Amino acid sequence: MANIERLRVFAAHAAQSVALHGRNEAAVLAAITPALATLIAHDDFLPEAYTKPDPKYYQQYLLYGDPAQNLSIVSFVWGPGQKTPVHNHRVWGLVGILRGGELSADFTEREGRLVPGATELLSPGRVVAVSPRLGDIHQIANAYDDAVSISIHVYGGNIGRIRREVFLPETGEVKPFVSGYVNTDVPNLWAA
Ligand SMILES: [Fe+2]
Repeated sequence: MANIERLRVFAAHAAQSVALHGRNEAAVLAAITPALATLIAHDDFLPEAYTKPDPKYYQQYLLYGDPAQNLSIVSFVWGPGQKTPVHNHRVWGLVGILRGGELSADFTEREGRLVPGATELLSPGRVVAVSPRLGDIHQIANAYDDAVSISIHVYGGNIGRIRREVFLPETGEVKPFVSGYVNTDVPNLWAA
């Protein structure tokens, strides 16, 4: 059985950090980044229902969302070879690699054109940040063609409901995008 206490402690810390630091993004990220690193240092807290890949699409499971929509914690599950489109977030976000490995490709928008930046292999234990202030456009891919990869993401809003964009670098097209979540039930953080 999953060690849900670890996830509850993290969710409490993240909620307290947002309540304490509000719109001070740098302070919020400084408070939550080490806590996310501590959470993902042990791969024992994620209930199995939120680890399941889909044969076709990467999965986005809501683990915790605060009612004021200032915080969401999400499990992303990539099947072999799956990847996101190039996309933005419009709020701060943290990505913590739990299982497998992910390729993170950064992009910037210059004079209406999308310019590719660095691509980095992220291994378990690694935490990276995105935001409109730090750089908000990226693409994440499972680094493996033969294994599932999972990361835990934290956002400064209800990421599944935020109107944001996907970018098609080949054509320059920009499309509106609301990601949603694949699950209807969230984990019971108070389960014994
Ligand atoms: Fe993202």
